[in-house]
Amino acid sequence: MDQNELKKLVGQEAVKFIQDNTVVGLGTGSTVKFMVDALGERVKRENLHIIGVPTSNRTAKQAESLGIQVKSVDEVDHIDLTIDGADEISADYQGIKGGGAAHLFEKIVATNSTKVMWIVDESKMVQELGKFPLPLEVIPYGSQQVYKKLAAKGLHPQFRLDESGDHVLTDSKNYVIDLHLGKIEHPHELADYLIKQVGIVEQGLFLDMVNTIIVGRQNGPEVIQA
Ligand code: A5P
Repeated sequence: MDQNELKKLVGQEAVKFIQDNTVVGLGTGSTVKFMVDALGERVKRENLHIIGVPTSNRTAKQAESLGIQVKSVDEVDHIDLTIDGADEISADYQGIKGGGAAHLFEKIVATNSTKVMWIVDESKMVQELGKFPLPLEVIPYGSQQVYKKLAAKGLHPQFRLDESGDHVLTDSKNYVIDLHLGKIEHPHELADYLIKQVGIVEQGLFLDMVNTIIVGRQNGPEVIQA
């Protein structure tokens, strides 16, 4: 199976965990896209009453197009389960997210959910975090100063730009800075430092947050209770 087939496999497996009459956080990314497709099919086939809380404009659009009822995080009382992708998951089940520039909304939805599930192909499972550049969402005003401070601290920042050299913008119209760290030995300390820097709205370390991980492996999906 290639990577896309593994992503589809975990997307289809994940929706089996969704129960009727529940509120489901819908993550963002190519793996979640398969999950939302599979959820759309279930909703239609089984006439399920699901409310989806999307973590990006992209996911909201897809869910609506499939007939899944969508509400914003501020319109619901609670979220039963959030299903999202991840860019890296360490051996102790900490994660990096934000490769798709959606980690701020993803973290807001995840931290307001009773249960959090991540769905990944096996290439995302690593020993320790940091090979994948750590995304930060930063306010454009003053972002050069934030950048300089991060560079001076040896955190190897890089603004995320698109093919035309323009800043990639999040759904909140903020910039993204990626930290090219190679290895993150102390994720909690790094997260504490980053979130204290004025101008950084959110950082992409998702620590002590996940309950279930579904990993797409060549011999089938592996379900891990974290
Ligand atoms: C979006 O900002 C991210 O956090 C995604 O959840 C993450 O990048 C995984 O995306 P893929 O499923 O496309 O790899």
